[in-house]
Amino acid sequence: MLTVSQISKSYKDHNILSDVSLTVKEGECLGLIGESGSGKSTLAKLIVGLDSADSGEITINGIVLREQKGKALKKIRRHIGVVFQDSHASLNPKLPIWKTVAEPLENYPEAIPAYLLEEKADRKKMALHLFKKVGLSDRHLDCYPHQLSGGQRQRAAIARAISIEPKLLILDEPTSSLDVSVQAQILNLLKELKEELGMSFLFISHDIAAVRFMCDQICVLKDGNLLDVFSSAELFEDKRHPYTKQLADTGY
Ligand SMILES: Nc1ncnc2c1ncn2[C@@H]1O[C@H](COP(=O)(O)OP(=O)(O)OP(=O)(O)O)[C@@H](O)[C@H]1O
Ligand SMILES: [Mg+2]
Repeated sequence: MLTVSQISKSYKDHNILSDVSLTVKEGECLGLIGESGSGKSTLAKLIVGLDSADSGEITINGIVLREQKGKALKKIRRHIGVVFQDSHASLNPKLPIWKTVAEPLENYPEAIPAYLLEEKADRKKMALHLFKKVGLSDRHLDCYPHQLSGGQRQRAAIARAISIEPKLLILDEPTSSLDVSVQAQILNLLKELKEELGMSFLFISHDIAAVRFMCDQICVLKDGNLLDVFSSAELFEDKRHPYTKQLADTGY
């Protein structure tokens, strides 16, 4: 599904990512864990095209992103959805929330999912359908982002991200800004949607318990270097990298 191959990135002579390679298989959730500043969001930005790598390659279903331009690139990009930690950044403060949720359906009319086609003529109805999928209701449709709780905003950001059925969802600390009880609700929602829509996830988090709950495979990043890659069930095995053990012990 997604292959990141020997990616390096530096900002002003400072190495942020060094030779990072990882693979997210179809239907799989890959967890990426590492301390603050280790380069997790930088990698997410490179994958979604907000920045470009100095070297290395990113491929989606075998197609090298760097080699695509214009319409062809747009066509591939629509298969990658993204949810950031800070939903304020992804939700337009000046628009009622339903418009932001329905925006990708307008930009990619050819990608409107089958279950929304009946309501194709009415974008607000499509938005309501998406709202219900993520546990929001019709009374949230006309709210502005600041009128929703953090959990509701994150639900709206998820609704927008899944609106055109991406094959891959990049989740960059999607629950870090939320209360513990709300975090669990959102993680459960994401898990359900993943099964229902057959998505793959790249799940970025500080929270090793959340990563274990969500993911099949886990990658550990430190100072831009990938130190350890293993299946979730092997987290507490003796052969883990000392740094991974430290993360697992401290519950970091
Ligand atoms: N556009 C940029 N220009 C310069 N430096 C940057 C830029 N983006 C990120 N960095 C630097 O890259 C490093 C890694 O940042 P990044 O956001 O990827 O870390 P992170 O692992 O996501 O951390 P956190 O867990 O706090 O979100 C940091 O030192 C940051 O200052
Ligand atoms: Mg980050």
